[in-house]
Amino acid sequence: MFSKNQAIQTIAVLTSGGDAPGMNPCIRAVVRTGLANNLRVLGVEGGFEGLIRGSFREMGARDVGGILQRGGTILQTARSKEFREPRGQREAIRQMNNAQVDGLIVIGGDGSLNGAMKLAEQGVRVIGLPGSIDNDIYGTDMCIGVDTALNTIVDAIDKLRDTASSHSRAFLVETMGRESGYLATQAGIITGAELVLVPEVQTPVEEVAHAIEEAYRRGKTHAIVVVAEGYTPHTAELGQQIDAMDIGFSTRVTILGHIQRGGKPSAFDRLLASRFGVKAVEFLLNGQTGVMVGLNGREMEPVPLSVVVSHKRVLSAENLNMAGILAR
Ligand code: F6P
Repeated sequence: MFSKNQAIQTIAVLTSGGDAPGMNPCIRAVVRTGLANNLRVLGVEGGFEGLIRGSFREMGARDVGGILQRGGTILQTARSKEFREPRGQREAIRQMNNAQVDGLIVIGGDGSLNGAMKLAEQGVRVIGLPGSIDNDIYGTDMCIGVDTALNTIVDAIDKLRDTASSHSRAFLVETMGRESGYLATQAGIITGAELVLVPEVQTPVEEVAHAIEEAYRRGKTHAIVVVAEGYTPHTAELGQQIDAMDIGFSTRVTILGHIQRGGKPSAFDRLLASRFGVKAVEFLLNGQTGVMVGLNGREMEPVPLSVVVSHKRVLSAENLNMAGILAR
């Protein structure tokens, strides 16, 4: 078992859960900061699943060369059911002990950070880093991948607007985000959508129809409604209901889907991911464990994983309101 005072010689890094653009720059930062501090750095292939199998790969400076601009994760990722069980966690710890890993850095979303906390509770020195396009993690202003995903959404909606106004149509555009309306809200503001539908707020179908009809009455050539995937009814069903109503525009539905998770990380995500990676190694070397690195304003701060996983990030009502005002 790991002792807090034991000097760190070997660290391991893994990516887990849904991939997010910026994970590669983050891995690069962890590896190179580790090497700069004379540490041995291991990459774990395939997230917690790989940890259970002992899939470690020695990482040198050149192994992370040319990956700054690559989407996805060179370490592969997974959603591991096995790791959720105590038996899987025990096996992962055994593998880490065998490989003489003194500290682990986990890059991923809330499920992954929960996994990191489970390891910390069992004495493993762990630092979590928030990586998820959803931006639904408590304790950090931004997660790795959010900015790139938003840029992808904006690009897609700009294109949809071209065809929408050519045909005088309404488009319902579904964004990812699980139970969070963050991506939809931000996208709504910056694309000038008529309406944003999020799981956090109940919006009756009649209200959606009314907003689209109002846009028609005001002489708009199109209407865009951004729908977060967690909103009910599901976007396809909503589209059918709206299209059956007499609201001026005919309606089309576009589900953006996994395209939002790919692509080269934006400048913001590269920088954020690099800063997170450097801080995670520094935190480990300073004896911290069981914390996530969170972005608070301009500062990188440790946030206990227990706090991160037991709180829900609340959607900004101010932003949602702003989307409504600017759409008039
Ligand atoms: O958490 C990231 C995310 O892309 C969510 O927005 C989405 O609900 C989910 O992952 C999709 O998961 P999968 O890639 O396993 O289908």
